[in-house]
Amino acid sequence: MIGLRGICKAFGRYQALRGVTIDFEPGKMTALLGPNGSGKTTAIKTLLGLVRPNAGAVEWNGRHINGDFAFREEIGYMPQIAHFPENLTIREFLAMIGDIRRTRPVRYSGMMERFELAALEAKPLKGLSGGTRQRVCAVMALMFDVPMYILDEPTAGLDPLAAAGFRDDLVEMVRRDGTTVFLTTHNLTEAERLCQQVGVIRAGRLLAAGRTDELRQRARSQPLVSFVGRGFDERVAAMLRARPEVQGVRRLDSTLHVELRAGAETSPLVAAIVNAGAEVEEVRKARATLEDLFLDLVDDTNAAAPNDARETTPC
Ligand SMILES: Nc1ncnc2c1ncn2[C@@H]1O[C@H](COP(=O)(O)OP(=O)(O)OP(=O)(O)O)[C@@H](O)[C@H]1O
Ligand SMILES: [Mg+2]
Repeated sequence: MIGLRGICKAFGRYQALRGVTIDFEPGKMTALLGPNGSGKTTAIKTLLGLVRPNAGAVEWNGRHINGDFAFREEIGYMPQIAHFPENLTIREFLAMIGDIRRTRPVRYSGMMERFELAALEAKPLKGLSGGTRQRVCAVMALMFDVPMYILDEPTAGLDPLAAAGFRDDLVEMVRRDGTTVFLTTHNLTEAERLCQQVGVIRAGRLLAAGRTDELRQRARSQPLVSFVGRGFDERVAAMLRARPEVQGVRRLDSTLHVELRAGAETSPLVAAIVNAGAEVEEVRKARATLEDLFLDLVDDTNAAAPNDARETTPC
């Protein structure tokens, strides 16, 4: 399977990738997350040989590639920004892509139906809406029955229905065919729902990489519980703040968000709230999300010490 080993890439004096190492587990989905300009597309283009790194290597099945990109036949690629030959029709363009490759586009008809492009086949690419162009790109990647898809912001610009259909297709392909998927997205819920593995990159450095569930848990060290009910006035909030097992309290309308110290029990807090004269209708234990991890890593410059990330190579 494919991987990046200590990739460094500079554009002029700007260091876009600083020693990035990523492994893709076969038959799994991996998301690369990061702010705009952090190096996601550059990492993808390096994998595909569209960008030549200054240091490091691309590996395919354990071997360094050294400029032999024949393995691209086994990849379906969806670029972030497509540069189409604008005068061709959708059908002509996709037929051309099919002709260029040795792999046959066996899923062409199915994907054209899936992305509701069949009736638009004869339309020229110029003049297509942004979302329709994105759907053409999706067909371009997914029409090949290949072991790996590399998708650069695949659902950006798709309407919610098309995006949901796309996600379903990916999940189904991974389940049925054991396809390996590497994607980038700014939709953290999407990454969390689809991907068993994630990497977070900022300014060309991989800050964290690993299993989604483990990284998510690491993001929030303190447990958080929300009480929904009535009568949550400042007096109740102050009473909670004074308790030793409570780290912090935030009051929002009919909800109290309480940050607990490690090991604290929830039921004594419910009793204390009721004793204070308020009413508890619901208790929710908040689940750590990928967004917590992302914000921890990306928002806070001090949190950028990547002790456990699999990259440290300086460029
Ligand atoms: N061909 C190029 N020439 C010069 N600079 C480039 C080139 N390609 C990328 N860069 C720079 O490298 C950095 C990383 O860009 P990249 O496109 O990889 O970011 P990204 O993480 O994909 O961002 P986005 O979320 O906006 O898609 C940016 O500062 C960008 O301006
Ligand atoms: Mg990009």
